[in-house]
Amino acid sequence: MYTQSFNVPDTSDDTKSAGLKAVARPPTEAETALQARFDAKVDADEKVEPKDWMPEAYRKTLVRQISQHAHSEIVGMLPEGNWISRAPSLKRKAILIAKVQDEGGHGLYLYSAAETLGTSRDQMLDALHSGKAKYSSIFNYPTLNWADVGVVGWLVDGAAIMNQIPLCRCSYGPYARAMIRVCKEESFHQRQGYEALLVMMRGTAEQRAMVQDAVNRFWWKCLAMFGPPDNDSPHSAQGMRWGIKRISNDDLRQKFIDATVPQAKVLGVTLPDPDLRWNEERQHYDHGAIDWDEFWATVNGNGPCNKERLATRVKAHNDGQWVRDAAMAHARKQQQRTLQEAA
Ligand SMILES: [Fe+2]
Ligand SMILES: [Fe+2]
Repeated sequence: MYTQSFNVPDTSDDTKSAGLKAVARPPTEAETALQARFDAKVDADEKVEPKDWMPEAYRKTLVRQISQHAHSEIVGMLPEGNWISRAPSLKRKAILIAKVQDEGGHGLYLYSAAETLGTSRDQMLDALHSGKAKYSSIFNYPTLNWADVGVVGWLVDGAAIMNQIPLCRCSYGPYARAMIRVCKEESFHQRQGYEALLVMMRGTAEQRAMVQDAVNRFWWKCLAMFGPPDNDSPHSAQGMRWGIKRISNDDLRQKFIDATVPQAKVLGVTLPDPDLRWNEERQHYDHGAIDWDEFWATVNGNGPCNKERLATRVKAHNDGQWVRDAAMAHARKQQQRTLQEAA
């Protein structure tokens, strides 16, 4: 998964000061030529590769976005990982293990893509573990019952797909290529969630009530995953110019709502928005107002599970130290053996 805290500043963000430095000195002729070549490449929809020249602000924006995306994938493992030992059947357990493993894999592709921009895995993990780096806010809410696991698949992964498909056409090659595989796996995540909910909706009245309750709790938070409204997203235009962002926050949110309303009907749940109705003139669904104060409070560390998620993540990293040490020792041994054989 996921999105969309991606374009919120990290606490340690220095993009602004870098920008100020850049205007302090007029660019040299060589820099102007490099910039023109970069602009032409982006305009022609060609990919920018790690060894190509790129503007410093483009590099910094990508490092921030890709690392926030990677953090979201691995923190996203936690709310569902919590349910692996409590899945209601062997089949559901196997599916959930596969999904959570996929999310770990997504994190790894994305950390690797960010590393090609000259930042190390350790730096990115330090920023996450010290609380400086952001990740998608949706994971700071609890998964209270089994229906939540289905709703996370259907709505959270569904919103992630909507956000991530345009990233397959991102101007930065390694990010775009990582997203192609990620999106294929996300579509399995979305479908397994929806199917689990369909089964529950064919069950008892209590099971149906659980699904409705989970939808009620997650719906608005999923709409907020697409990020602030376009007129409150000052960096969006630059992201579009660079070919990083292809579709605006509001347009993506609208696409998600339009796709999800018919799915909710088939499922037999009500989306908790009294203002949600088809607008014949616009040929889209209208919707009610999103609570952005709650969104920003959670992004800024005050959601119900922020502290717990970070503590679990840091503990998992520390508990895994022996694995990293063993892997390094094994690699050193292999290298020595190869050298001895060559001698
Ligand atoms: Fe993912
Ligand atoms: Fe996913």
